[in-house]
Amino acid sequence: MTNIYVYSNSTISKAANTIKNGGLVAFPTETVYGLGANAFDSKAVAKIFEAKGRPNFNPLISHIAEIESLHELAQTDERVIALAKQFWPGPLTFVLNRKKLDPSFDLVCAGLPTLSVRMPNHPIALELIKQAGVPIAAPSANRSQSISPTTARHVYESLGLRVDMIIDGGACNVGVESTIIDLTTQKTVLLRAGGLAKEDIENFLNEEVIISHGNPELPSSPGQMLKHYAPKIPTRINITPQERSENEFYIGFGEMQCDLNLSPKADLVEAAANLFAFMHLAEEQTKYSAIAIAPIPDIGLGLAINDRIRRASYNK
Ligand code: TXA
Ligand code: MG
Repeated sequence: MTNIYVYSNSTISKAANTIKNGGLVAFPTETVYGLGANAFDSKAVAKIFEAKGRPNFNPLISHIAEIESLHELAQTDERVIALAKQFWPGPLTFVLNRKKLDPSFDLVCAGLPTLSVRMPNHPIALELIKQAGVPIAAPSANRSQSISPTTARHVYESLGLRVDMIIDGGACNVGVESTIIDLTTQKTVLLRAGGLAKEDIENFLNEEVIISHGNPELPSSPGQMLKHYAPKIPTRINITPQERSENEFYIGFGEMQCDLNLSPKADLVEAAANLFAFMHLAEEQTKYSAIAIAPIPDIGLGLAINDRIRRASYNK
């Protein structure tokens, strides 16, 4: 039994349907294979984290096939459009301010006000995105902490049947992940060195691209720089219904009385899909001055959920 499909027109249409129906498709890009899902379907995105076995929710890159799609997702300016026209499709990812603020897009962005986006330079990836008709969220298609896959076989060895389909497009010719630049500030900041040389960006912009280490304002790796979203009001975690205080908006899990339930049937994928949107709703409501979150089992996606809400509860 294998879920590896050789490239053909019918493979692409089957894969596009899988994406539309909330499934996972591993596909080739010029950098590494991506583990893709509909970026606007938070439950499908939660499945990516589950399949990777990620201990936390890193924001994911949204992959698009046309520059026009950028305008729906992000705030753009002349620098952004010029870079896109020059280097896309290609191994360059932009971090931009979000325009699309829908809760369904929150998990991809890990609740941040920014997003990351790129247009991959691979005919299969571009065709898949076009036919799916949505941006495809995709980290590298491997289990967390293992090396990035550059062949369909690598994907299969790492993820096996955790993914619905793997499209075999041969070996990736760049072989390292995309370069990531932050374009939310006036200066262009390199967040991750990758498939496109920093010098190429500098020559095109005619300005220096800043490497972020050493400066606490400009941290050195994407993971570090993420000022993760935390609610504006005090948040306690691991609180049972009995322990909840009167001033607390209560986010439940499993069958219980609460203001919002991450998953009445105690499904961790569903809970992950709802998490960021519910934290936003909880801080926006005006009836309570604080938030309490029910205990979440520390297994599967529960690890990532607990990591996230633990950080939310540190704040203030
Ligand atoms: O080449 C690539 O970029 C591959 C292929 C599949 O496109 N994808 C990839 O994704 O490497 P991933 O998830 O393994 O790496 C994305 C990186 C993460 O380190 C994440 O923290 C960072 O991008 N990132 C995503 N959104 C961000 C944001 N809004 N701000 C800062 N960093 C962000
Ligand atoms: Mg990766």
